[in-house]
Amino acid sequence: MRKVKPVPPERLPALLRRMPKAELHMHIEGSLEPELMFALAARNGLTVPYADVATLRRAYVFNNLQEFLDIYHAGTLVLRTEQDFYDMAWAYLQRVAADQVLHTEIFFDTQTHTGHGLSADVVINGLHRACTDAQAQLGLSASLILCFLRHLSEVEAFEALEQALPLRDKLVGVGLASSELGHPPEKFARVFARARSLGFRLVAHAGEEGPPAYLWSALDVLKVERIDHGVQALRDPALVARLVHDQIPLTVCPLSNLKLKVFPTLARHKLGRMLDAGLVATVNSDDPAYFGGYLNENFTQTFAALGLTAQHAYQLAHNSFAASFIDASSMRVFQDRLTEVFETFA
Ligand code: ADE
Ligand code: ZN
Repeated sequence: MRKVKPVPPERLPALLRRMPKAELHMHIEGSLEPELMFALAARNGLTVPYADVATLRRAYVFNNLQEFLDIYHAGTLVLRTEQDFYDMAWAYLQRVAADQVLHTEIFFDTQTHTGHGLSADVVINGLHRACTDAQAQLGLSASLILCFLRHLSEVEAFEALEQALPLRDKLVGVGLASSELGHPPEKFARVFARARSLGFRLVAHAGEEGPPAYLWSALDVLKVERIDHGVQALRDPALVARLVHDQIPLTVCPLSNLKLKVFPTLARHKLGRMLDAGLVATVNSDDPAYFGGYLNENFTQTFAALGLTAQHAYQLAHNSFAASFIDASSMRVFQDRLTEVFETFA
């Protein structure tokens, strides 16, 4: 990795905000801000079961992943039309364009929404139109990854995959999200095998709350190319060696880990140790409307808490492009822009 010039700690937040970067782990339903949630509810003749925006925000206190998922699911009930999905994604895309995000890979699921009586097309078409407009109007590259919900059955995941196939061209890959404990990756071995045979890129959440064994099976059974979270990997030295050897990227989400009590404080987060171990870590926001910050907040707060440096910043941003599913020529363009910012930053 290129050596970059040192930057004094007080100048680091400005560099972090200015540096070009990719986001590889965010759930679009987790970007639904309370203000937009109330607006969509009103537009659809629905009510949010909280008095107002401030009361809703005060409910965003979680002790674990499941407590979050319950509130997050309630929030998705206001999404009813293609325009709702467009508006939610467009708000996120505009927001992260301001964070110097050049490329984003957006997680979404259809199972939540088909469970509410919507068709998968409504979800995918609305999100995809926002991604197309982001490229045209913001110069921001955006692609979509369909996540299966792991608390549901393998049969239901197969149904979600089949429903998405007519819109195959609007998706880059598939992933695995929702309640991790008790739902190991191998539950979805056959769905991932089918997605792989169809040419989808493969990722899965593993090692957020779950054990290192879930990373092993995500790699060896699902054959994923990236692991989402993966912060439990350091508990298993053989696993770390494998991840380093195969240069498997880990999409780490520090503020998510803090809010879901994976780590008690940001100062106890393992991001620095992961980088020191040679792991291909990246920084991501996961569910920014719920966890207190978009991508740049994740960078600035984590760097302040862990005392990370400009060299770490360059490494993380470089990793974010290298770990993405963009074509090789775009990747080089983005990484060159990154290098230029570091060389000219004063
Ligand atoms: N869905 C949305 N956010 C998630 C997370 N942090 N882990 C698993 N599933 C999710
Ligand atoms: Zn996630």
